[in-house]
Formats: sequence, C-alpha cells, structure tokens
Amino acid sequence: MDLERKRIVLGLTGGVACYKAAELTRGLVKAGATVQVVMTNAATHFITPVTMQALSGRTVYTDQWDARIANNMPHIDLTRDADAIVIAPCSADFMFKLAHGACDDLLSTLCVARPMTVPLLVAPAMNVEMWQNPATQRNATQLRFDGIHILGPDAGEQACGETGMGRMLEPEQLLEEIIASFRNKVLTSKRVLITAGPTFEPIDPVRGITNLSSGKMGYAIARAAREAGAEVTLVSGPTALSTPFGVHRINVQTAQQMYDVVMSRAPSQDIFIAVAAVADWRVANASVQKLKKNEAGDVPQLQFEQNPDILAAVAALKDKPYCVGFAAESENLLEYGEAKRKRKGIPLLVGNIGHQTFGKDENELVLFDDAGNKRLARADKHDLARQLVSEIAGRL
Ligand code: CTP
Repeated sequence: MDLERKRIVLGLTGGVACYKAAELTRGLVKAGATVQVVMTNAATHFITPVTMQALSGRTVYTDQWDARIANNMPHIDLTRDADAIVIAPCSADFMFKLAHGACDDLLSTLCVARPMTVPLLVAPAMNVEMWQNPATQRNATQLRFDGIHILGPDAGEQACGETGMGRMLEPEQLLEEIIASFRNKVLTSKRVLITAGPTFEPIDPVRGITNLSSGKMGYAIARAAREAGAEVTLVSGPTALSTPFGVHRINVQTAQQMYDVVMSRAPSQDIFIAVAAVADWRVANASVQKLKKNEAGDVPQLQFEQNPDILAAVAALKDKPYCVGFAAESENLLEYGEAKRKRKGIPLLVGNIGHQTFGKDENELVLFDDAGNKRLARADKHDLARQLVSEIAGRL
C-alpha cells in the first residue's frame, strides 16, 4: 500500500470543501495511512467530528484544552510521531495564521509546534476573490518561502456560484500529491516525454484497427515520474484512463499523429519512454466515406503501409533524450529483447515477461542495457513503474 505505516495529521478548517475531506480520509486510510483528524471550530460547522471519527477510526480533536490527552499537550502529542500534516481544506484565514505563526487554536498551535522535519501540506479552498486578494497571495508566497507545500487550488465552479481559482483539489488528486510527497525526487527538474496506450488506424470514418493495450503501464510510469519530481508530458492513444495529477496529456489517435507530437517535443526533453503499443501498419486506402456492403457480397480490400518507428526516430536525433523502449514478445524474450535494443539504438529496453500483460494490473519486467539484463519481479504496475523510474534515474 502506498502509505503503509504513514501517520498523517489531517487538519480541517472552515469551508464547504470539508465534505471532500471525508472522501480524502477514506482514501488515506485505504492507502494504509493512520489518519489523525484535527478540526477547527469553523470546520465543525461544515462537517461533524462524528463523521470524521467514523471514517478515520480515531478520536477527533478540536480543542487545545481537551482533557482526554493525559498531559494536556495535544499540540505536542499529536505531532511528535507524525509523518506529515495536511490541512485540507485550508481557509484564507488559516493561511494568514500559518504565515504569521499564530497559535490561537489547537490546529494552528500544532502546526507551529511541529518539528521542522514534519512536512506541512496545505490545500487552499476559498472563493475566487478571496484567493486573488493580494493579502492571500502575500500569505501564499510566505508559506512557500517557509517550506510549506501548497497543493492547488484549482479553477472552476464554486459553491458560492462564482467561477475561478480557489476550488480545493479533488480528494483523489490530493491523495496522489500526498503519496508523491513521500517519494524520492530522483528526477527533479527533468523533462520526461512518454507515449502510452494503443493507436487507432482508421479504415473509414467509423471503423479502424487498434490493439488491446490499456495504457496502464505508460500512465503508471507518467505518474511515477511526476512523483519523482519530473515535468511529464504524456502522449496518449485512446484509453479509458484518467490523467495522473500534474501530468500534461496530449491525446492522439494514429501512429502518425503520435510521431508528429513526439518529434516536435523530443529535442527539448531529458528522457523519452516509449510505452505505447504503436500500430506497425496503417491502412493505405482508408475510405473518406463509410464503406457500404453491396449485394454481390464484395469485401473491402485493405492495403497497408508502414508507420514511422517513433522510438527509432527519436533515438536517431542529434539532440536526443535518454531513450527507453518497451518490448512485448511472445517468445525468446532474452534474445529478441537485446536484438531490439540494438536495432532501435537505445540504451535501455524494458521487456514484458509474458506477452499477455495488456490490460492487467500486474506485470513482470526484464531490463536490457549495455551491462546485460536484470529482472524486476512480478508486482503491481505502479510499483514497477516506480522501480523503473529509479532504474532510469540511476543510469542518467
Ligand atoms: N515503437 C514505436 N513506434 C513504432 C513501433 C514501436 O515507437 N512504430 C516503440 C514501442 O513504443 C516500444 C518499442 O518501439 O517501445 C518496441 O515496440 P514493439 O512493437 O515491440 O517493436 P517493433 O519495433 O514494432 O518490432 P516487432 O513488432 O517486429 O517486434
């Protein structure tokens, strides 16, 4: 589990977005974290401590003078074994308090009393005008300067009926950010370009040829690279997956479109990871109009032409990024994998052990490079993606 043995203090301050903190608590607990909820008095007007207690499975604290804490020092007791403190939602008023080191309630006091080794993450949630107010912006700058991580906010429709910046991030986005905050930043300031998913080659306006790639491995690598601090662009064929938080996604359909997007960006990248299952051929005589049956029962005669090899083209660039390829072979992986690495002219090739990995949540990999090969044991695609990211970072 992503947050196994992590102890998180989740602070709620006054705001409608408190309802999202309930979902966030569920996500944190499901990811293995112990969640200790602390609420300001204002937060209890939006959601009850009873709800938060039921979801976290722990007593919720709201008061500095809570006699249930034996030594009456909740601000110390609740922070000494914490791995992170997350304030979600964080109101404009609470940002002001944090920026000034206020200690006038339990939550603000424990933020000030936390050891500086305990990261503090805040998810602002407020009306657009409140967010844009120079005082709030001044406080946000001060928080960043003090090493506090500001998550979001997002733009969109607000509970008050107005639209703009100030919406709290969604619970699943916050969860991704919290998980990412515990990862080693081995790709800080690196630019990573990734292809993922299948391609779709049209036969006519309503039909086409595609493959069974789900995109899961490529998306997991995009997420892992972002967690490691990289700036990630994901060029994706058609998939049903949602974009990992903080990743820039460009949708394409055909191999040619994927090639065009990748070639326009590759020279400015540090790393290129080709995970997409790119169609080797496209229909040369695709029809502009929908093909119709005729009474004679004639069947269409499709002709094919070869698609460009995106990975080989990037690897042949003068200013090439560090190139990583994938290979799905149905036999002789060790032999074909190394041969494919050489043919494509790349330093690292990742082979899927067993070719029936499409759509599955688990995978087993073997890495080929100049030093030989190395197996990454069967694991969840997210775990493997993280291992692969550290392997790549170690080779840069
Ligand atoms: N690839 C690519 N462009 C293509 C075909 C493949 O960028 N037109 C990339 C894939 O994303 C993968 C690697 O090349 O990283 C290997 O893909 P694979 O389909 O296994 O290899 P092919 O070169 O197509 O060779 P073959 O199908 O004959 O094994």
